[in-house]
Amino acid sequence: MVGMQTRIIDGRKLAARMQGELAGRIGTMVDPPCLAVVIVGDDPASRVYVAAKGRAAASVGILSRIVPLASSVTEADVLATVRQLNEDSCVDAILVQLPLPSHVRATAVIEAVDPSKDVDGFHPLNMGRLGTGIGMVPCTPAGIMLLLSEARASIRGSRVLVIGCGAIAGRPAAALLSAAGATVTMAHKDTRDLAWECRRAEIVVAAAGCAGLVGRGHLQEGAIVVDVGINRLADGRLVGDVAYEECLGWASAITPVPGGVGPMTIACLMQNTLAAADARRQPPAVLA
Ligand code: GUN
Repeated sequence: MVGMQTRIIDGRKLAARMQGELAGRIGTMVDPPCLAVVIVGDDPASRVYVAAKGRAAASVGILSRIVPLASSVTEADVLATVRQLNEDSCVDAILVQLPLPSHVRATAVIEAVDPSKDVDGFHPLNMGRLGTGIGMVPCTPAGIMLLLSEARASIRGSRVLVIGCGAIAGRPAAALLSAAGATVTMAHKDTRDLAWECRRAEIVVAAAGCAGLVGRGHLQEGAIVVDVGINRLADGRLVGDVAYEECLGWASAITPVPGGVGPMTIACLMQNTLAAADARRQPPAVLA
């Protein structure tokens, strides 16, 4: 039996196209955007992500300032660093790489970032504005929406299952999808009869951080699958939350790991940085 032709949604290609457009626009600016990235401690994965963000910034003409802090730093010092960057008129955009060491409260640090420089979109003001069309949209869910659009998914009226309700991906993705007219269910890796929940959904967004959580048997034929998971296996391989190979010939479209959501997150960060810089370069409104 010939199965369905599964479309591989190429996040690398889409991200490269976006970054090409951003480079063109930034190239015409007299004063290019500046992104500050604060990294606390030496978490190896965080180092890799921060380096990738720095490279992407350089490739589109965004200046980046990496601010490394020792893992022994106090919360007060992290807050002071963030406040300095808030005040620094050369800095358009601020990102504090997560996770933070356990003695530094991520909520306190996120709330200290000036919402207009908050290119992660994690500040409660930006989170609260999600889906309204104003404010900074978190990068991973913004990337998910663009990948779904690239796959020509019709979101309005569709049932969408979001698995994993973390603050970085699942929760804001569910808010955006719901604002776009989807009927959204939020599930977790421990949801009772996850397969039943999955099979009802035309679109599945897996962001639980659990390798192989979703297999072919979970999906309705022709489902569109966005895999947000990044899991390192014991043998060193990087895999998503979805058993990718199994889903080929069954799903109508799927994002690969790596090469799906990851590159889009970075491209959206660059887009947010340009948006923050553009907003700061607007002349002040003249009141009538
Ligand atoms: N750690 C994992 N993903 C992210 C992200 O999108 N932003 C930040 N700041 N930290 C992360």
